[in-house]
Amino acid sequence: MTWIVVGASAGVGREIAGQLASLGRSLLLVARGREDLEAVALDLGLRFGGEVRTVEADATRPESFAGAVLAAVRPDERIEGLLLPLGTIDEEDSPELPRERAESLVNVNFLSPAALISSFLPLLRGQEGASIVGLGSIADARGRRRNLHYGAAKRALRFFFEGLLHAETGRGLCVQFWVLGYHDTGLAFGKKLPLPPESPAATARRIVRNLGKRSGVFYTPRYWRAVAAVLRALPLGLYRKLDL
Ligand SMILES: NC(=O)c1ccc[n+]([C@@H]2O[C@H](COP(=O)([O-])OP(=O)(O)OC[C@H]3O[C@@H](n4cnc5c(N)ncnc54)[C@H](OP(=O)(O)O)[C@@H]3O)[C@@H](O)[C@H]2O)c1
Repeated sequence: MTWIVVGASAGVGREIAGQLASLGRSLLLVARGREDLEAVALDLGLRFGGEVRTVEADATRPESFAGAVLAAVRPDERIEGLLLPLGTIDEEDSPELPRERAESLVNVNFLSPAALISSFLPLLRGQEGASIVGLGSIADARGRRRNLHYGAAKRALRFFFEGLLHAETGRGLCVQFWVLGYHDTGLAFGKKLPLPPESPAATARRIVRNLGKRSGVFYTPRYWRAVAAVLRALPLGLYRKLDL
């Protein structure tokens, strides 16, 4: 049984891969950059001894991304789950962001994960107790001046997962969507954050501990659910006064 971790070369994804390897699971790790990906695979193979394969695939290209990952699965391979901790931001993500860069954000954060899930659904539905796990962001709580294409793509991804949750109810697939607050990874490096960042290892532990349990939408750290609810409830006039 194999876990596929997409975005496994850094941050939360690398930690998730490490946790799964330490539990003796076989892994298929996916990212765009070969060097980091192979370094992670080598390290996990040496430390835990299980099978760790890699596949390079670029999520800025949804038309080929899902096919590249699917092609790496062996014909008789049982897939225990598809984990999607990939994501990317753009430092200049504003209404003026050039179209190609806006497209990249939407492709990596929404269209490629959605295409991958669609491609894997027939396979996963046939495997009792399989999981699909997506990672969202607190950035989708409400429109901000910054990270607006990123936030829009993450909101689209959450919407997609909510639909998937409904569609898969009673069919045996476990569908989980984790909305992440700030984390101490390359993605948030150097940013001025209004709340302390969580460690990626702690979040990976939480995600791995809950694999295959209840389907649903979860927040980590948990207090972000309340923060998001407050942000959404603020009247627009008041919300616009915040420096967000
Ligand atoms: N860090 C935070 O504060 C924070 C907050 C809220 C939500 N999140 C979300 O949490 C998840 C994990 O974030 P993180 O902080 O762990 O990010 P990270 O450290 O930057 O790692 C992102 C991973 O995604 C992969 N990736 C990025 N662009 C890709 C592309 N075009 N094709 C294939 N793979 C690609 C990266 O691989 P390559 O380097 O090879 O491209 C890397 O393995 C993401 O969904 C992110 O949006 C993070």
